[in-house]
Amino acid sequence: MITVLDNHALVQHFLSILRNAETGAEPFRRASEAMTRILILEASKSLELKDIQIQTPLENMTGKTVSEDVVIVPILRAGIGMLQTSLDVIPGASVGFIGLERDEATAIASCYYAKMPEITERSSVFVIDPMLATGGSAIQTVNELKAKGAKKLMMISVICAPEGVEAFVTAHPDVPVITGVIDRELNASKYICPGLGDFGDRLFIT
Ligand code: PRP
Ligand code: URA
Repeated sequence: MITVLDNHALVQHFLSILRNAETGAEPFRRASEAMTRILILEASKSLELKDIQIQTPLENMTGKTVSEDVVIVPILRAGIGMLQTSLDVIPGASVGFIGLERDEATAIASCYYAKMPEITERSSVFVIDPMLATGGSAIQTVNELKAKGAKKLMMISVICAPEGVEAFVTAHPDVPVITGVIDRELNASKYICPGLGDFGDRLFIT
Protein backbone atom coordinates (compact mmCIF):
# COMPACT_ATOMS: atom_id res chain seq x y z
CA MET A 1 0.00 0.00 0.00
CA ILE A 2 3.05 2.31 -0.03
CA THR A 3 4.52 3.55 -3.29
CA VAL A 4 7.88 5.33 -2.98
CA LEU A 5 9.04 7.04 -6.15
CA ASP A 6 12.68 7.65 -5.18
CA ASN A 7 13.95 5.46 -8.01
CA HIS A 8 12.78 8.18 -10.45
CA ALA A 9 15.67 10.43 -11.53
CA LEU A 10 13.55 13.60 -11.45
CA VAL A 11 12.25 12.81 -7.97
CA GLN A 12 15.84 12.67 -6.71
CA HIS A 13 16.65 15.87 -8.61
CA PHE A 14 13.74 17.90 -7.28
CA LEU A 15 14.11 16.52 -3.75
CA SER A 16 17.68 17.85 -3.68
CA ILE A 17 16.42 21.32 -4.64
CA LEU A 18 13.75 21.18 -1.93
CA ARG A 19 16.16 19.90 0.73
CA ASN A 20 18.87 22.49 0.06
CA ALA A 21 18.67 25.19 2.75
CA GLU A 22 20.03 27.68 0.17
CA THR A 23 17.02 27.21 -2.15
CA GLY A 24 14.89 30.37 -2.23
CA ALA A 25 11.10 30.51 -2.36
CA GLU A 26 10.83 30.72 -6.14
CA PRO A 27 12.86 27.60 -7.04
CA PHE A 28 11.34 25.88 -3.98
CA ARG A 29 7.87 26.48 -5.44
CA ARG A 30 8.90 25.26 -8.90
CA ALA A 31 10.44 22.08 -7.43
CA SER A 32 7.36 21.51 -5.29
CA GLU A 33 5.14 21.81 -8.36
CA ALA A 34 7.32 19.40 -10.34
CA MET A 35 7.26 16.84 -7.51
CA THR A 36 3.50 17.19 -7.21
CA ARG A 37 3.02 16.55 -10.92
CA ILE A 38 4.96 13.28 -10.68
CA LEU A 39 3.08 12.18 -7.54
CA ILE A 40 -0.37 13.02 -8.92
CA LEU A 41 0.33 11.27 -12.23
CA GLU A 42 1.24 8.16 -10.20
CA ALA A 43 -1.81 8.48 -7.94
CA SER A 44 -4.19 8.92 -10.86
CA LYS A 45 -2.96 6.09 -13.00
CA SER A 46 -5.48 3.64 -11.55
CA LEU A 47 -8.58 5.87 -11.75
CA GLU A 48 -11.55 3.99 -13.16
CA LEU A 49 -12.37 4.53 -16.81
CA LYS A 50 -15.46 4.09 -18.95
CA ASP A 51 -15.86 3.81 -22.71
CA ILE A 52 -16.63 6.91 -24.74
CA GLN A 53 -17.40 7.24 -28.45
CA ILE A 54 -15.10 9.68 -30.25
CA GLN A 55 -15.20 10.97 -33.80
CA THR A 56 -11.57 11.63 -34.84
CA PRO A 57 -10.95 13.63 -38.05
CA LEU A 58 -10.69 10.22 -39.77
CA GLU A 59 -13.16 7.83 -38.16
CA ASN A 60 -15.26 6.80 -35.17
CA MET A 61 -13.56 5.02 -32.31
CA THR A 62 -14.16 3.93 -28.73
CA GLY A 63 -11.93 5.84 -26.31
CA LYS A 64 -11.76 5.99 -22.51
CA THR A 65 -12.68 8.70 -20.06
CA VAL A 66 -12.28 8.91 -16.27
CA SER A 67 -15.55 7.81 -14.65
CA GLU A 68 -14.78 8.69 -11.03
CA ASP A 69 -15.37 12.02 -9.29
CA VAL A 70 -11.97 13.11 -8.04
CA VAL A 71 -11.85 15.19 -4.85
CA ILE A 72 -8.55 16.82 -3.92
CA VAL A 73 -8.06 17.74 -0.27
CA PRO A 74 -5.01 19.87 0.57
CA ILE A 75 -4.11 20.01 4.26
CA LEU A 76 -3.55 23.71 5.01
CA ARG A 77 -1.24 25.36 4.88
CA ALA A 78 1.53 23.52 3.12
CA GLY A 79 -0.85 21.38 1.06
CA ILE A 80 -1.88 24.53 -0.84
CA GLY A 81 1.53 24.40 -2.50
CA MET A 82 0.45 21.16 -4.21
CA LEU A 83 -3.07 22.23 -5.18
CA GLN A 84 -2.70 24.15 -8.44
CA THR A 85 -0.51 21.48 -10.03
CA SER A 86 -2.98 18.79 -8.91
CA LEU A 87 -5.75 20.73 -10.65
CA ASP A 88 -3.60 21.21 -13.75
CA VAL A 89 -3.37 17.41 -13.98
CA ILE A 90 -7.05 16.76 -13.03
CA PRO A 91 -8.89 19.96 -14.04
CA GLY A 92 -12.36 18.58 -13.27
CA ALA A 93 -11.63 17.70 -9.64
CA SER A 94 -13.55 19.26 -6.78
CA VAL A 95 -11.59 20.58 -3.81
CA GLY A 96 -12.05 20.23 -0.06
CA PHE A 97 -10.00 22.13 2.48
CA ILE A 98 -8.89 21.14 5.96
CA GLY A 99 -6.74 23.35 8.15
CA LEU A 100 -4.53 21.60 10.70
CA GLU A 101 -1.67 23.04 12.71
CA ARG A 102 0.79 21.17 14.86
CA ASP A 103 1.36 22.47 18.37
CA GLU A 104 5.05 23.41 18.45
CA ALA A 105 5.60 21.75 21.84
CA THR A 106 3.61 18.53 21.44
CA ALA A 107 3.53 18.17 17.61
CA ILE A 108 -0.14 17.23 17.95
CA ALA A 109 -2.22 18.76 15.17
CA SER A 110 -5.53 20.49 15.79
CA CYS A 111 -8.15 21.41 13.22
CA TYR A 112 -9.02 25.08 12.69
CA TYR A 113 -10.95 24.90 9.40
CA ALA A 114 -12.79 22.40 7.21
CA LYS A 115 -14.92 22.82 4.11
CA MET A 116 -15.67 19.82 1.93
CA PRO A 117 -17.52 19.37 -1.35
CA GLU A 118 -19.99 16.51 -1.75
CA ILE A 119 -18.26 13.19 -1.14
CA THR A 120 -19.98 9.99 -2.23
CA GLU A 121 -19.04 6.32 -2.36
CA ARG A 122 -17.97 6.95 -5.94
CA SER A 123 -15.52 9.72 -5.06
CA SER A 124 -11.82 9.12 -5.34
CA VAL A 125 -10.25 11.37 -2.71
CA PHE A 126 -6.62 12.49 -2.96
CA VAL A 127 -5.30 13.99 0.29
CA ILE A 128 -2.28 16.17 -0.45
CA ASP A 129 0.26 17.33 2.14
CA PRO A 130 3.97 17.60 1.38
CA MET A 131 5.12 16.38 4.82
CA LEU A 132 3.96 13.28 6.69
CA ALA A 133 5.92 13.43 9.96
CA THR A 134 4.21 11.83 12.98
CA GLY A 135 1.27 11.06 10.68
CA GLY A 136 -1.14 12.86 13.03
CA SER A 137 -2.38 15.41 10.46
CA ALA A 138 -2.90 12.79 7.75
CA ILE A 139 -4.67 10.37 10.13
CA GLN A 140 -7.04 13.08 11.40
CA THR A 141 -7.83 14.19 7.84
CA VAL A 142 -8.64 10.68 6.68
CA ASN A 143 -10.76 10.10 9.82
CA GLU A 144 -12.76 13.21 8.88
CA LEU A 145 -13.13 12.19 5.23
CA LYS A 146 -14.24 8.66 6.10
CA ALA A 147 -16.83 10.15 8.48
CA LYS A 148 -18.13 12.16 5.51
CA GLY A 149 -18.54 8.97 3.48
CA ALA A 150 -15.26 8.66 1.57
CA LYS A 151 -14.51 5.04 0.68
CA LYS A 152 -11.65 5.37 -1.76
CA LEU A 153 -8.78 7.54 -0.56
CA MET A 154 -5.11 8.07 -1.25
CA MET A 155 -2.51 9.94 0.82
CA ILE A 156 0.02 11.84 -1.29
CA SER A 157 3.15 13.35 0.31
CA VAL A 158 6.52 14.59 -0.91
CA ILE A 159 8.49 13.31 2.11
CA CYS A 160 7.47 10.88 4.86
CA ALA A 161 9.09 9.85 8.12
CA PRO A 162 9.11 6.09 8.80
CA GLU A 163 7.35 6.67 12.14
CA GLY A 164 4.54 8.55 10.37
CA VAL A 165 4.10 5.93 7.67
CA GLU A 166 3.88 3.23 10.35
CA ALA A 167 1.27 5.19 12.31
CA PHE A 168 -0.72 6.00 9.17
CA VAL A 169 -0.87 2.47 7.76
CA THR A 170 -1.80 1.16 11.21
CA ALA A 171 -4.68 3.65 11.47
CA HIS A 172 -5.76 3.39 7.82
CA PRO A 173 -4.49 0.14 6.27
CA ASP A 174 -6.97 0.58 3.40
CA VAL A 175 -5.52 3.93 2.25
CA PRO A 176 -2.53 3.76 -0.12
CA VAL A 177 0.33 6.20 0.44
CA ILE A 178 2.25 7.68 -2.47
CA THR A 179 5.44 9.54 -1.60
CA GLY A 180 8.68 10.75 -3.10
CA VAL A 181 10.82 9.34 -0.32
CA ILE A 182 10.79 7.89 3.19
CA ASP A 183 13.47 9.69 5.19
CA ARG A 184 15.56 8.37 8.09
CA GLU A 185 13.69 9.49 11.23
CA LEU A 186 11.97 12.21 13.23
CA ASN A 187 14.08 14.36 15.55
CA ALA A 188 13.06 15.29 19.12
CA SER A 189 10.96 18.19 17.79
CA LYS A 190 9.20 15.79 15.38
CA TYR A 191 10.83 17.26 12.29
CA ILE A 192 11.74 14.89 9.48
CA CYS A 193 15.51 14.23 9.13
CA PRO A 194 17.25 14.88 6.84
CA GLY A 195 14.00 16.42 5.57
CA LEU A 196 13.78 19.95 4.27
CA GLY A 197 12.74 21.97 7.33
CA ASP A 198 9.32 23.56 7.60
CA PHE A 199 7.67 23.20 4.21
CA GLY A 200 4.97 25.82 4.82
CA ASP A 201 7.46 28.41 6.08
CA ARG A 202 9.75 27.89 3.08
CA LEU A 203 6.86 27.95 0.60
CA PHE A 204 5.17 31.04 2.01
CA ILE A 205 8.31 32.89 3.25
CA THR A 206 7.10 32.91 6.85
C1 PRP B 1 3.11 20.42 8.66
C2 PRP B 1 2.87 19.68 7.35
C3 PRP B 1 1.85 18.66 7.74
C4 PRP B 1 2.22 18.35 9.17
C5 PRP B 1 2.87 17.01 9.23
O1 PRP B 1 2.12 21.34 8.91
O2 PRP B 1 2.45 20.50 6.31
O3 PRP B 1 0.53 19.12 7.66
O4 PRP B 1 3.12 19.37 9.60
O5 PRP B 1 3.15 16.69 10.55
P1 PRP B 1 2.48 15.46 11.28
O6 PRP B 1 2.57 14.30 10.35
O7 PRP B 1 3.35 15.30 12.50
O8 PRP B 1 1.08 15.81 11.64
P2 PRP B 1 2.16 22.37 10.15
O9 PRP B 1 1.41 21.81 11.29
O10 PRP B 1 3.57 22.79 10.39
O11 PRP B 1 1.29 23.56 9.61
P3 PRP B 1 1.50 24.48 8.32
O12 PRP B 1 1.21 23.63 7.10
O13 PRP B 1 0.49 25.55 8.53
O14 PRP B 1 2.92 24.99 8.31
N1 URA C 1 6.24 19.64 8.96
C1 URA C 1 7.22 20.18 8.19
O1 URA C 1 6.97 21.15 7.46
N2 URA C 1 8.44 19.63 8.26
C2 URA C 1 8.74 18.57 9.02
O2 URA C 1 9.90 18.12 9.02
C3 URA C 1 7.72 18.02 9.82
C4 URA C 1 6.47 18.58 9.76
